[in-house]
Amino acid sequence: MPKAAALEKAQALRTQIHRIFGTVSEGAGPLSSSLLFWQQSLKNPVQICSVFPSRPSVGKSMCEAVGECNGKPVIELGAGTGAITRQLLGSGIKAHDLTAVELDREFASFLSRKYPGVDVLNMGAEEIADLWLKRKSPKVGAVVSTLPIKLFDDALQHRILGSMLDVMAEDASFVQLTYRLKSPIKKEVYENLGLKAKCDRAVWQSIPPAFIWKYERA
Ligand SMILES: C[S@@+](CC[C@H](N)C(=O)[O-])C[C@H]1O[C@@H](n2cnc3c(N)ncnc32)[C@H](O)[C@@H]1O
Repeated sequence: MPKAAALEKAQALRTQIHRIFGTVSEGAGPLSSSLLFWQQSLKNPVQICSVFPSRPSVGKSMCEAVGECNGKPVIELGAGTGAITRQLLGSGIKAHDLTAVELDREFASFLSRKYPGVDVLNMGAEEIADLWLKRKSPKVGAVVSTLPIKLFDDALQHRILGSMLDVMAEDASFVQLTYRLKSPIKKEVYENLGLKAKCDRAVWQSIPPAFIWKYERA
């Protein structure tokens, strides 16, 4: 199909979706959350990088990988519509200890309505550490990320991981979800930052199987 015709088709589809789901982001229930996710992923497939929110089994495993944070704050990167946020709160992390970072404005405003006690920041993950240090917030017990970090270039991976290290407690982990077996963060990047990496667990019942990687100070 010629490029112009394909673009026109995509635009028509977007308009249809907007007509049908235009008010989806006003709601906050599970249906509106899935529809909003779908709507935004069609609008911005590269940034969102998935058509469905993470499955509960994936969120549960991520919480297990995070472990005990002893009341330290937790930062979630790429919170989307809150599939992992919900599980983090369910695992015992208090809403006032959780900061959810999300680049998409619709998602961020949805999250703020759905989880009023959580500090929702509508900004890029790469900007959070500066803000954290400016606010003089305490060091975090864990960073939980579902960012499509594998798609980021080395410089951006380095910037995100390196800046988060500045706000992480000595024993804190950076926990990252991926759907490939290999580390989604380049070896040169994490080694250059003095980190070691391991695939902490696999979620085989997820389709496709999910892998949870942990990066910690070596
Ligand atoms: C694969 S989705 C995960 C969403 C949700 N956490 C889940 O598990 O269902 C990745 C999310 O990261 C967000 N994102 C992508 N790049 C980002 C960045 N640089 N800073 C913050 N969020 C970003 C996207 O908008 C999207 O919501």
